[in-house]
Amino acid sequence: MDIDALYVRLGEENLNLLVKYFYDLVFVNEQIAHLFKNDKEEIKEKQRLFLTQFLGGPQAYSQKFGHPQMRARHLPHPISKPDAMAWLHCMSQAIGKLPIDETLKDELFARFPQTAMFMVNEE
Ligand code: HEM
Repeated sequence: MDIDALYVRLGEENLNLLVKYFYDLVFVNEQIAHLFKNDKEEIKEKQRLFLTQFLGGPQAYSQKFGHPQMRARHLPHPISKPDAMAWLHCMSQAIGKLPIDETLKDELFARFPQTAMFMVNEE
């Protein structure tokens, strides 16, 4: 594992906080809350495992669920551009609450816009 990885610089405690803050916002967001129908704790745990590897940590998600194929896994859920914007807004707000440097916040947020737009699968 790269010792400079965002996962390492952020730390596990902050990653857990991020997942909590993020879904506290997502599950009440009027644009996207309705999309999340499955067990909320399971969704959070999957995201924690995914972000661990997405941010350069151990391949935690893949070990449990196989290749991420995130776009394919999102296809059953209709995701529009406004949905992606709402998702990113929740992520930005959640990152904003973390007790970390502003530069680390910026670096962290910068990892998401491209991936979020890639999940858009309907007009
Ligand atoms: C663009 C806006 C996005 C929307 C609206 C969205 C919505 C969803 C929905 C509805 C689910 C299924 C929840 C359920 O099981 O009930 C899901 C799963 C998931 N999403 Fe997203 N998502 C978005 C972007 C992203 C991005 C950018 C990432 C990663 C950086 C991500 C990571 C995940 C993961 C890890 C899961 C669990 C996949 C699994 O079932 O194993 N999502 N998302």
